[in-house]
Amino acid sequence: VSAIFITGSGTDIGKTFVTAALIHEYRRRGRSIAALKPVASGFDPAAPEASDPGILLSALGDAITREALDQIAPWRFRAPLSPDMAAAREGAAIDFATLLQFCRECIAAARDLLLIEGVGGVMVPLDPTHTVLDWIAAISLPSVLVAGSYLGAVSHTLTALAALRQRDLQPRAILVNESPDSGVALDETAATIARFAAGIPVLALPRLPSIAAPHPALQHLADLL
Ligand SMILES: Nc1ncnc2c1ncn2[C@@H]1O[C@H](COP(=O)(O)OP(=O)(O)OP(=O)(O)O)[C@@H](O)[C@H]1O
Ligand SMILES: [Mg+2]
Repeated sequence: VSAIFITGSGTDIGKTFVTAALIHEYRRRGRSIAALKPVASGFDPAAPEASDPGILLSALGDAITREALDQIAPWRFRAPLSPDMAAAREGAAIDFATLLQFCRECIAAARDLLLIEGVGGVMVPLDPTHTVLDWIAAISLPSVLVAGSYLGAVSHTLTALAALRQRDLQPRAILVNESPDSGVALDETAATIARFAAGIPVLALPRLPSIAAPHPALQHLADLL
């Protein structure tokens, strides 16, 4: 049994899309895949199917019920803010130790591969003293860094990579996910990142017509995990 942490260079970069697309890829291979989105902000209880955990449950082929949401995304907050701020809006807080315990129990219970989607970018705060980076380090999981191809993405990606490496968290792969309406070429961006990310496979994923559409980059990523 193994688990992989899906993180990103920022919010809205494609972590959920890539996680769900990987779920579809593994299910096509007959694998018994599981997924978590432990901390979800911007969660609208009136439209759970549009939320990150809702999208992951759909990819898994599971019904989007209250119980299922509680199982894969116990920390859900309404405000579309960083998790610490979103929790505070509700008079709540994310207990870091409880979050780690939850993840460890899910990792131990997983039958095959478990994908854990983080939240925001690598250094988004979870509480007053911990960031996502602390979370990845504490559960010591290999990661996939999802990046974009917009103008500026190379610097954001290499900055995120430097932060991970500073904690000895070399990502298993960097997935450059094509940004919408970007004037920068996807393959050129991926090649540039690869030049500065020695030793890490860098894959390029174009915009896909559907989250369930197969693509060689997803097949390659699935092979690497
Ligand atoms: N390769 C792609 N092809 C088509 N649409 C994509 C692709 N990647 C991302 N999207 C779309 O872009 C939007 C943002 O992606 P996504 O929600 O996966 O980002 P995220 O990193 O998970 O954001 P958050 O920080 O909120 O968790 C979504 O509407 C998603 O469906
Ligand atoms: Mg997401």
